[in-house]
Amino acid sequence: MYDKSKIIPALVIFLGLATYPIWHNTVSGKARYVPKPELPTDKAKKECVEPKTFIRVNHKTLLEDWKFSVVRNGIRTYQASNKKAYTISLNRTCMNCHTDKTKFCDQCHTYMGVTNKCWDCHIYPKQLSPGPLAMRGP
Ligand code: HEC
Ligand code: HEC
Ligand code: HEC
Repeated sequence: MYDKSKIIPALVIFLGLATYPIWHNTVSGKARYVPKPELPTDKAKKECVEPKTFIRVNHKTLLEDWKFSVVRNGIRTYQASNKKAYTISLNRTCMNCHTDKTKFCDQCHTYMGVTNKCWDCHIYPKQLSPGPLAMRGP
């Protein structure tokens, strides 16, 4: 035996709680907060070093390979899957297209809670000029 008059309200409360994250975000307007990394607008910069679906998921590994390639093997050219060759450089290549770290990299990283120490040593182009930091390396 079960009592419909209790089960239905209990179900309504349960569904309300279970879906809370969805409707709360809708009500508070947060549902629209998804990272919107700003892509290059320059026509000459329309193609990433690898396809978007790949780079989105694998840029961490790619950057690790790049670093390894330079630091361990002294190889500074990357042969991409589109048959083009790119200079292996976080700044002169990645950040040459993705010029604004704050509007690009950080958009996702802040959202996902990803942190890294890359910028303790690497200086991205936007930081370079003008000012005293312009003296710092590649
Ligand atoms: C020649 C310009 C260029 C270079 C160099 C470049 N990118 Fe990109 N990148 C783009 C463009 C354009 C897109 C968007 C591609 C698309 O929409 O198909 C993109 C997309 C991405 C994305 C996915 C963004 C998203 O919204 O999912 C990531 C992550 C990324 N790039 C990281 C990097 C990293 C890391 C490097 C260096 C290893 C790099 N890019 C080098 C132009 C470049
Ligand atoms: C489309 C969203 C997105 C964009 C844009 C993006 N990242 Fe990421 N990044 C992530 C996510 C998600 C992770 C964590 C997952 C992983 O480790 O692969 C990550 C991880 C990383 C890591 C590894 C951090 C660690 O030590 O675990 C590095 C380094 C990195 N990103 C560099 C960059 C750089 C440089 C740019 C800008 C040129 C960039 N990312 C742009 C989403 C993004
Ligand atoms: C302690 C300082 C330091 C930190 C932190 C650091 N790097 Fe580097 N990185 C270097 C040095 C030094 C080189 C060698 C520079 C050269 O020979 O051109 C290098 C080289 C590289 C290269 C190849 C050459 C170039 O100019 O881009 C890549 C790619 C790279 N690092 C990516 C990263 C990423 C991604 C992170 C964060 C996950 C990171 N590095 C953190 C110091 C650092």
